[in-house]
Order: sequence, then C-alpha cells, then structure tokens
Amino acid sequence: MQVLVVGGGGREAALAWKLSKSPSVSGIWVTHENPGFPAKARKLPEGEVAYQADQAGVDLVVVGPEAPLAEGLADRCRELGVPVFGPVAQAAQLESSKAFAKDFMAEHGIPTAAYGVYESAEAAHAAITGPCVVKADGLAAGKGVFVCTDAEQAHAAIDTVFEKGLGATASVGASAVIEELLVGEEVSVLALCDGQRFVLLPAAQDHKRRFDGDEGPNTGGMGAYAPAPVATPELLQQVREQVIAPVVAGMRAKGTPFVGVLYAGVMVTEQGPKVLEFNVRFGDPECQPILQLLDEDLAQLLLSCALGGLVVRDLKQHPGVACCVVMVSGGYPGSYPKGLEIAGLDPERDLDSETLVFQAGTSRKGAVTVTQGGRVLGISARGADIAQARARAYERVAEISFEGADWRQDIAFRALNRN
Ligand code: AMP
Ligand code: GLY
Repeated sequence: MQVLVVGGGGREAALAWKLSKSPSVSGIWVTHENPGFPAKARKLPEGEVAYQADQAGVDLVVVGPEAPLAEGLADRCRELGVPVFGPVAQAAQLESSKAFAKDFMAEHGIPTAAYGVYESAEAAHAAITGPCVVKADGLAAGKGVFVCTDAEQAHAAIDTVFEKGLGATASVGASAVIEELLVGEEVSVLALCDGQRFVLLPAAQDHKRRFDGDEGPNTGGMGAYAPAPVATPELLQQVREQVIAPVVAGMRAKGTPFVGVLYAGVMVTEQGPKVLEFNVRFGDPECQPILQLLDEDLAQLLLSCALGGLVVRDLKQHPGVACCVVMVSGGYPGSYPKGLEIAGLDPERDLDSETLVFQAGTSRKGAVTVTQGGRVLGISARGADIAQARARAYERVAEISFEGADWRQDIAFRALNRN
C-alpha cells in the first residue's frame, strides 16, 4: 500500500512512523518536510494534494491537521476515488465551527455545557452574568477560547474576539459562543470511525496550559499520556453511548457520514461526561503516545475506515502506559527565535526504541537539525506504568538541548497523584 500523510508536525511524524511499521505499507508519501519523518518517506510533488495523490498511485490519504479537512480535502479525494481517512468538510464543521458543534449536540441530546451564540459584541456583552467561557467561532488554533472566572474577564474576552476578528473565517462570519464553565478533569476520547461504526483508541490526557500546575496561556498541548486512568471503563461506556454513537449516527442521518478520527474533548463532571469540544483529527500531542501504545496495523485499520468496512472490536494495545513530553522554543506560545541548532538527536534510535523522538517544529540547515516552530519535539516513552513511562521520557529530554529549550516538568501529574 502507498500511503500519503498530509501535514508536517509532531502528530504527522507519529502517523508516518506508525504507518511505516505497517507490514502492508510499501511506500510513504508526505506533503511537508519534517526531518523526523521516516527515511523512506517521499515528498509528494507540489500542486493540488488530492490530484497529486491520485497521480502518484496513493492507496490511502491520511489527513493530520484540521485545516485541509475544513477546506474540503477529503471531499476532493472522494471525488477522485482516492480512499481518504478524514471527514468531508460538512462533517469537519464539528471542529471548524463551534456553533455548528453546539447546535449538533443540542439536536442529538449530547451532554455539553449550556451555551448561547452571539453575532455581535453588544449582544455578547449583554449576556454576561459571571464566570463563563467565551469562544470565538471558527478555527483559531487553540487561541480562541477564554476561560473567564468573573464577568470582567468575560467582557475583555468578548472585546478580543470581536475586535481581533478571531471569529472571522471565510466560511463562518464573526460570532462568539458563550458557555457554562464546567468543573472537573479533562480527558480526550478518540474514536476511529468508518461512517457507520467506530472503535475507541486508548483515552489520553493532554496538558494545554503552558506552565506547570496548569498555569499560563493555552498552547497546542505540552504533553500527553495514555491510557488516562480518569477514563474508567464506566466513563468510556458513557462516552461511547452518549457522545460517539450519537455523533456517528447523526452525521450519517445528515448524509455526511463521519469518516476519520472523532476526538471528543470531555470534562468528567459530577453529572457525568460533558463534551468541551470536538476535533475531527488526531490530537497533537495525544497522537504520539496513543500510537506508541497501539499494537495494530495502522494502515489496515485506517483503510478499513476509509472504505467503510471497520470491524468493531477492542483494539490491541501494548501493555503499560505511554507518555509524551513536548519540548518548546523559549517564548512559545508567544514569539520565539528559529533556526537554533538541536543537539542530542539520534536518527538511529529516535524512531526505533521504547523512547521515541518525534520532530514537530524542526528543519534541516545543511547537516544539522534546527528549531523551526514553537513546539519543537515530542519525546514519547513507553513504560510498565505511568511513573516509568514519564521517567523514561524525561531522561531522554535531558539528553537533548537547544538554546531556550523548555518543557513542562509535571506531565501526567494527575495520573501520578491518583497512585
Ligand atoms: P477548546 O478549544 O474548546 O477545547 O477549549 C480549550 C480549553 O478550554 C479546554 O481544553 C478546557 O480546558 C477549557 N474549556 C473550554 N470550554 C470549557 C468549559 N465550558 N468549561 C471549562 N473549561 C472549558
Ligand atoms: N492537543 C490538543 C489538540 O490537538 O487539539
């Protein structure tokens, strides 16, 4: 099988790595450069991705990020008859439009925070009574969500959303969602869907805030581990029945079957699981530990979703736990320098050991690998338990360096505190 991975970050490095281990994969194509891709990955010629994939004889397109899905890449692949793992644009609105997601959840009785959608700053200001969460509608790369513990913060967030136009995308006009502030522990439940059926991946926990103790600004994610003990079998059963199954059935009924990863960001509240958000793709960095834990032929699994023939079962996974620590550039999520040399990488073992180094924001400058993005590397290790997995990840982190390198020291603290 020839497989194309769309995207060039840490998540795609993990996808390319896992796909390259599939016995059924003879060739890997990629759309982006990432020095951390498996050596055998070949760059797809420039041009329209679906067309180039078809020309190259690609048997399966695996889409990493949300933007190409929202722009209709899966629709184009389907038109051309190229099997694609990822939802069509209509279904991708579950992520690209928070208002769409909220309306969909209301329509299908999926538990989530109470909310309202406001088309103007005036209307939004008038709705504020106290603590709440203000969200820009549209894709804002994680920067469009403001958790406000009082009304003053909420008013400021509304001004930011409307004045900076965070809510404005080509497809969905400026609007804001204001919702009930939920209290509990968060967990990411990812399902592989074939439009009709689904299977759950090991549940993961992300760390969105930049600093230890969940302080500081939101980021794309500073680290993750799986399986997350907060996701008990009972909780997963509730998420299956109350969240994933109704989404898959509802999307099918709308005539836009959901194919791809349905990622439910869930708050485990005293009243049970409530959906914070949907993503329509693997999380980054959740993908890294999840795939490290998965003991399956990923290419076959994703192809069966793309073709509508997924077999419902418990996925095989390696015993133990996987934990990923993200190393970031100094300054991230604000501005940061680029082009700094990274020392301590080891191509021989970085993609071939119990401790993996996935490159995210890197590039090659001659013979050296340099920083190129905010999230630079994801170090993902497997261990018998969370303590061992995270200790191994941090040991490898300590061997790698670049100027200004930083990371959270407390990844998986919630799982550790349970023990
Ligand atoms: P989102 O991009 O919608 O996932 O939001 C980013 C983060 O904001 C989430 O991971 C939560 O930590 C937080 N958040 C979003 N909505 C709520 C809510 N209704 N109550 C509490 N926290 C929230
Ligand atoms: N790590 C969160 C996300 O991928 O959306």
